[in-house]
Parts: sequence; C-alpha cells; structure tokens
Amino acid sequence: MCAIQLSGIQKGFGSTSVLSGVDLSIEQGEFCVFIGPSGCGKSTLLRIIAGLEDPSEGDIRIDGVRVNHLEPAKRDVAMVFQSYALYPHMTVKQNLEFGLKHQKLLTAEIDKRVAAAAETLHLTPLLERKPGALSGGQRQRVAIGRAIVRKPKVFLFDEPLSNLDATLRVKTRVEIAKLHRALNTTSMIYVTHDQVEAMTLADKIVLLRPLAGQEHMVSIAQVGTPLELYHHPANRFVASFIGSPSMNFIAGEVAALASDGIVTAVAEHQINAAVAPGALKAGDKVTLGIRPEHIELGSGSLTGNVAHVEYLGEHAYVYLETELSRQPLVAKSAHQDIEIGSLLRFNLPATSLHLFDGNDVALPRLLGSVRQAA
Ligand SMILES: Nc1ncnc2c1ncn2[C@@H]1O[C@H](COP(=O)(O)OP(=O)(O)OP(=O)(O)O)[C@@H](O)[C@H]1O
Ligand SMILES: [Mg+2]
Repeated sequence: MCAIQLSGIQKGFGSTSVLSGVDLSIEQGEFCVFIGPSGCGKSTLLRIIAGLEDPSEGDIRIDGVRVNHLEPAKRDVAMVFQSYALYPHMTVKQNLEFGLKHQKLLTAEIDKRVAAAAETLHLTPLLERKPGALSGGQRQRVAIGRAIVRKPKVFLFDEPLSNLDATLRVKTRVEIAKLHRALNTTSMIYVTHDQVEAMTLADKIVLLRPLAGQEHMVSIAQVGTPLELYHHPANRFVASFIGSPSMNFIAGEVAALASDGIVTAVAEHQINAAVAPGALKAGDKVTLGIRPEHIELGSGSLTGNVAHVEYLGEHAYVYLETELSRQPLVAKSAHQDIEIGSLLRFNLPATSLHLFDGNDVALPRLLGSVRQAA
C-alpha cells in the first residue's frame, strides 16, 4: 500500500521557485531518505507533507486520501526536528505524555504507550529526569519518543542527528534503524545532509537538487536504492553527490563505438568505457567518471605523479597529477608508503567507468563487459 503520494508538487517563495514537479510515492513501511545540498528544498518538502507549509501546486495523499486541506494534527504524521524543543520544566515522562493528554486519551492507554516507547528507546531509567539533566543523545531520544507515542502512520525526521557529536550520531543512527525494524509498517521520511546516514538507513533515497534559477529543471535528480544511486547514477549531479571522496571526472570525446562499449579519446589516450552508446557518435563531447575506489593503482598504461597522499589508517587517498585532466585524480590505495613525487602506473577499468553525454546524462553501463582501458 502506498502510504504517501506526492503529485506535481511545486513550491515557490515569492518569485523564487524552490520545488518543481515533485512526483513521488512512499510505500507503507518504507524508509525514505531525502538528501541534497543545502537549500535544495528538503525541509520544505517535508513540511509540505506534514502540513506546516502549503504547496503552490500539487496534491499530497496519505493512504490514498488527499490531505492538502487537513491541518498538521489531522494528518496522522509525527515530525522530529533537528532542534528538539523539549519542555524544560517537565520530566521525560511528562514530555512524552504531553501530546497524548492533549488528545484526551485514557490514562491507562497513555501509560501503556509511554512505557512502550521508553522501553524501545532505553529511556525507562530516565523517566523522572528533566531535560536539563540529560545528554544531547538522550534528549533526542525523548524527542523521538514523543513522536512514537502518537503511533503515527508516518514519521518525518528533519536532520534529527545533526546536533549530536560523531560517536552519538552513529549510535543514534543504529537506534533509528532498529526502531524502523520494530515499527515495520510505519513509513519514515528522513532528511539529512549526511550521505552515510542516507546510504545506511534508506530503502529508498530521493536525491534533490537546487533549481538555482533553472526554471525547466525538476527538483528530483534521482530516486533509487542506495546501491542503484552508487552504481547507476542517472546523471553527473548524482554521480558527484553520492560517494566520498567524489567521483573523478575527465573530459573526452567519442573516438569510436566498439562492440563492448565506447572508446573515448582523452589527451593522447584511448580509454574504453563499457557503456551502451545510445545516440552517441564519433566526435561527441563526453565526460568519463571513475570513483577513487575503482582506479587500479600499480599497473596499466596510464601514469600519474603523486602530488599528495591522505592516510586514513585502513587506506589512503592518493592525488595523482595526470595528463587526463587538470584536476588531480583521487585514487584509493591500501598501501601505507606512497612517496610524494613518485610516478605511479594506473588503470581505469572499462567496467568501472561511467560516461556522461553532453547534457550530463549517464549512458547505461554494460557491467558484463570485461575489456580494460587501452
Ligand atoms: N519562508 C521562506 N521564505 C522564503 N524562502 C524560503 C522560506 N523557507 C525556505 N526558503 C528558501 O527555500 C529554499 C529551500 O529551503 P529548505 O529549508 O527547504 O532547504 P533544505 O534543503 O532543507 O536546506 P538545509 O539542508 O540547509 O536545511 C532555500 O533557498 C530557502 O532560502
Ligand atoms: Mg533543511
């Protein structure tokens, strides 16, 4: 069953268009993550679903019912914000109960829901404390608890972990994943900047992009599972956004169409990319893309000069100056002793390459192909 359906959502503030043509379905029980650069409209879209903002155009349906006209409290959604405004003079228990008392539920039902939420979120020993005596992570769990006790159809999270330190973020991320498993029929929509959160939590990622004055552009760059976005980015924007460090891009042109992909000419080199040629023809300008973790260092016909190395313990990132592009190529290496100034051979495997046409649209990859870079 489709829990939330957005059709033709548009939103402008004054003459500035923020969201354009958002069509999206979120299934019952699905964990959907909205991600994208700052200002691209993630919070605005979430607030439109919650009913805190009206769309300029378009329909919002929850469980098949159009809810555009319904106020937030009637939509059966619960929202957890980045700044978790708890009532400071109330205990954790009172904070959890507050919304339910407002709904005039029976005391026994309130007690049952509060006890269950406290148990799920490991808040039971803290129920009599006030927020001032809690850590940031505990306070955020109380904020999530306030949403859980309402038993909503849909949870909306707007960057709920961004005020926490790195360790606590990881812990709370795991708690949210467990919570989603426990409440398995409840849909969750989660806004974040953090692609690790997006990759680890999402069943479905919705990558939004800023319209930046480009009137004919739609807001959604791609919708897919985390691995679809990683392996098959639809365009250059998605390719550069997903993955850290970012994909390397190399400008080239089509030299020839081969049976197992496209041969591109870059500087003095011919590089084969295992992609379906589509409408491309010899001479067309294209961009090659390769992720740092897919560059094969140590052998191959290409060479680069090591300009810089970042050691991260388990692996290193090597910045290679090459004649392929003005920007150094970033390559991941397992070696711990790479000398700056040394010359390294490398290979760009055909099946790891991405290729984007003149409009930055990706060509479908032929992952069965084995031909390597010339
Ligand atoms: N009430 C408002 N009036 C005018 N412009 C607004 C209003 N609310 C948001 N905007 C603009 O809409 C755009 C999208 O804002 P939004 O808060 O949805 O972005 P976001 O993707 O959540 O960004 P961030 O990652 O920084 O939280 C921004 O350019 C913002 O300045
Ligand atoms: Mg936001």
